[in-house]
Amino acid sequence: MNNIALLGFGTVGKGVFELLKDRRDVSITRVLDLPTKKEELGSLYSTKEEILQDENISTIIECMGGDTLAYEIIKEGLTRGKNVITSNKETVSLHFEEYLSLAQEHHCCFRFEASVGGGIPLLDPAYQISCFDQVERIEGILNGTTNFILSKMQKENLSFQESLKLAQEKGFAERDPSADLQGLDMVRKGVILSSLCYHKEIHNEDVIHFGIEHIDLDLIHDIQKRGKVLRFLMLSSYQEKLSLQVIPALLSPSHPLSQIQEEYNGVTLYCKNNSLVTLSGKGAGRYPTASAILQDLNHILEGAAPFRREKVSLLKNEVDMSGDYYVYDGKESKILSSPSFNTLSSYPFVAKIL
Ligand code: HSE
Repeated sequence: MNNIALLGFGTVGKGVFELLKDRRDVSITRVLDLPTKKEELGSLYSTKEEILQDENISTIIECMGGDTLAYEIIKEGLTRGKNVITSNKETVSLHFEEYLSLAQEHHCCFRFEASVGGGIPLLDPAYQISCFDQVERIEGILNGTTNFILSKMQKENLSFQESLKLAQEKGFAERDPSADLQGLDMVRKGVILSSLCYHKEIHNEDVIHFGIEHIDLDLIHDIQKRGKVLRFLMLSSYQEKLSLQVIPALLSPSHPLSQIQEEYNGVTLYCKNNSLVTLSGKGAGRYPTASAILQDLNHILEGAAPFRREKVSLLKNEVDMSGDYYVYDGKESKILSSPSFNTLSSYPFVAKIL
């Protein structure tokens, strides 16, 4: 029997608990959450110390979110040789290299499939591809909440607030949805995915991001009149230089990412030998995310090879701002060609035209 400690009994944690409860090969024996959940969790309720000191726990599944406590437990857990699976993009993007080297050093696994692209089997296949081909560029919708909002506004003419409320009710949005709306959530996911595919160290604070928090139905109608579809994307490329940005984009209706609706995510990897590889699936929500965690657990139980990481160099982000941009000042829109970052930052809404 493989004993598991679950950290976080919220949307995702409860999903993992449900999906594992009838399994005979694994058992959740400890759960960490706030004291308010003590009664609900009964004898499973455990402290951080109890979890770390329990030698029968072989794997920790972390879905609390946030960095401080998650970092302490993941670091200590890996140091004690426990496998760690996490859905927490914040802590993975901040301590990626440290977690991977601790896992390597202590002969355990660190896996984080659920941290990017929800239920899509994405990180594992993308990493495998990057080991035998060169990933040169990545375009992705990596946030379910904002894609849900944009879909509802464009397809059903719902207002921004109505769409956001629905996304929150469905459990897609972060506790503080500004991380979704301003693009920070996608920055973290873009850093994890790009770092894995390009085999380089990349820092969150280096990434430029524009948000969708100032959109309204007038803006949506203006974009529709231009025959375009609005999507919120992570764009990254690496050949000689790294360019990584999170930005709304105006796409033609035939672009593959225009078809990605509601909370679905979609990612296209542009590879040197294999051309385009597109993966899509549900990017947020209890069971898709829990399913990605089970995928990691399966890899660990089957003894799959961990991510191999040699000492990697830090890559500075040199964003390519060339091309046409759509800007909107709250009343009128216009197109700017290859503007500077400062010019774009003076508008409440900007989108790259792809
Ligand atoms: N808030 C995130 C999203 C949750 O909407 O994509 C999944 O990472």
